[in-house]
Amino acid sequence: MICKRSSVIFCGAFLFITWNAILVLLLWGRPPSGQEQKEAERPSIDIVDGVLRIVDSIEAELEVQKKTLLQIQNHQSLWEPSDRNGPKAAPTRPPVIPILVIACNRVTVKRCLDKLLQHRPSEELHPIIVSQDCGHAETAEVIRSYGNNITHLKQPDLSDIQVRPEHKKFKGYYKISRHYHWALNQVFKTLSHSSVVVVEDDLEVAPDFFEYFRALLPFLKSDPSLWCASAWNDNGRDGYVDPGKADLLYRTDFFPGLGWMLLREVWEELEPKWPDAFWDDWMRQPEQRRNRACIRPEISRTLTFGRQGVSLGQFFDKYLRYIKLNTEFVPFTKLDLSYLKEEMYRENFEKEVYNAPVVRYEDVKQGQLKGPGPFRLQYSSKDSFKMMAKNLGIMDDLKSGVPRAGYRGVVSFISRGRRIYLAPPPGWTQYDLSWS
Ligand SMILES: *[C@@H]1O[C@H](CO)[C@@H](O)[C@H](O)[C@H]1NC(C)=O
Repeated sequence: MICKRSSVIFCGAFLFITWNAILVLLLWGRPPSGQEQKEAERPSIDIVDGVLRIVDSIEAELEVQKKTLLQIQNHQSLWEPSDRNGPKAAPTRPPVIPILVIACNRVTVKRCLDKLLQHRPSEELHPIIVSQDCGHAETAEVIRSYGNNITHLKQPDLSDIQVRPEHKKFKGYYKISRHYHWALNQVFKTLSHSSVVVVEDDLEVAPDFFEYFRALLPFLKSDPSLWCASAWNDNGRDGYVDPGKADLLYRTDFFPGLGWMLLREVWEELEPKWPDAFWDDWMRQPEQRRNRACIRPEISRTLTFGRQGVSLGQFFDKYLRYIKLNTEFVPFTKLDLSYLKEEMYRENFEKEVYNAPVVRYEDVKQGQLKGPGPFRLQYSSKDSFKMMAKNLGIMDDLKSGVPRAGYRGVVSFISRGRRIYLAPPPGWTQYDLSWS
């Protein structure tokens, strides 16, 4: 080939122009008919005749060249879908965001996979990778039944893990941590993906689950103060969220998990020190979080449909079971989400919270609030936070000092139809690690 693939379009255009130039010169140079003298004597007929022939030839030649150019253009679009428009143009090649499903011994992974496949907008852009630990044959059979529509990985190290005696009952958490470590290495190192959404086998996803993460990927890539996007609102129970605000997103200092996206860079940072157990609480420690936030929605885009065994049995019955799953599709990729950018978000959020009138806990509890809200409910100690959270029905636990779904100490929720900000006094600067 004369032309390299990368420059084939220019090369084609150059050949096209050169060829036509030669053609025109040749045709003009050819005497139309007879002798030059005769031509001079009878200019009108001969010249018109000659020009017509030239035009005919050029027309035929143009047709052939046009076909050639179109072919070149088609091929070129296959080779280089995005980079032709110069450095200024945004890349049009859409990013691939795989979904990593963490599975073990629950055949109900079927519900998770069915919903993912049902709502997946594109097989190419969202490959589904199921990583299975535990070697459970029935679960493996369920996963296998999806054939080529998913990728089935099996965690090879099924060996027992030695733990100290007082941690015997937590052995499941050690295995989960080992599995996450292996599976995320597969995604980022073996399969070389640059981002992933992690889902557990007991999560059901909402119709706009993929749309949500597609819209947030550019934020994670461009904003170092973010380290994840999560589909989960820890206080997302029915009655505690605004059903008219399905498009509302927040920043949170609490790592929510439960359907979350991270980039390869974050994994490369965490992987060398990945813990033996309790990986999610480990991520919530300041050494790992390093003051970074996650994006989370007002209304959850995941729902847990069953938690038994190693984790969260009581917790499930009390809270998780009632989380409201979003049903309306929000076109996040077409919305202006610039309000989530750090500085603007912080300013506006603090204005919104600290301009809200302070109300008494008793008035919130008894539904005595006058006006539409929002209202601010102030806490000043760990105990007052816990007492109010518990009695108003939101999560009262703190990890490394951070309340669930909190941002700069503030937890936003709906109580009896009104927006409440459970907030520390104005001038908050940092979390108190001793609050747990
Ligand atoms: C894979 O998905 C296609 C399209 O939804 C479906 O027709 C096919 O039956 C699926 N294959 C398996 C093995 O489930």
